[in-house]
Amino acid sequence: MNNKLKLKPEPPVILIGFMGAGKTTIGEIASNLLGFDFIDVDREIEKEYGMSVSEIFSIKGEESFRIMESAVLRRACRQPASVIACGGGVVLAKNNRRLLDKNPYVIWLKTPVVTCLKRCCNSSRPLLSGISISSVRKLFAEREPFYRRLAKLEIETAGNNPGLIAENIALKIEALMASGCSN
Ligand code: S3P
Repeated sequence: MNNKLKLKPEPPVILIGFMGAGKTTIGEIASNLLGFDFIDVDREIEKEYGMSVSEIFSIKGEESFRIMESAVLRRACRQPASVIACGGGVVLAKNNRRLLDKNPYVIWLKTPVVTCLKRCCNSSRPLLSGISISSVRKLFAEREPFYRRLAKLEIETAGNNPGLIAENIALKIEALMASGCSN
């Protein structure tokens, strides 16, 4: 009789949160600590379509970007032993939320809007270019309930160093995986 224990491959760890929450920086460090692959959804889109996110927004429009984002997320969610950094708007589409709902390791990097704004002020994020602070707050307020509802874990990032946050994530994920929460 074959009595070998058959473990399901672990689903990916998925980082969500507003622009500037640190998903890429922290995700990359956490993936190294866990010995997992790192997938940044925006970078994958840029590689696949040969354009920067800003170019996609200005040439093809946000709607096309969201379609690309959903396709890349769907594929990434099938990659076991990986850490996925999502764009801040990934929670807007219902089909993306359905995917995230099924994943046991969705982590919300919880960051105050003021901190996000400070971190993004010199970036080329298309949704933030020329936008007023009150509009950013509105965007943040619209998305926050989705981040909260989808997250299995919430991690505060303001005032903490990315390396320490990543270590905390790696420890929590290792503990969850050891407890067999996805099996
Ligand atoms: C977006 C966030 C960006 C990028 C795109 C749209 C958003 O990613 O996907 O500019 O709608 O919040 P980051 O959250 O990594 O900045």
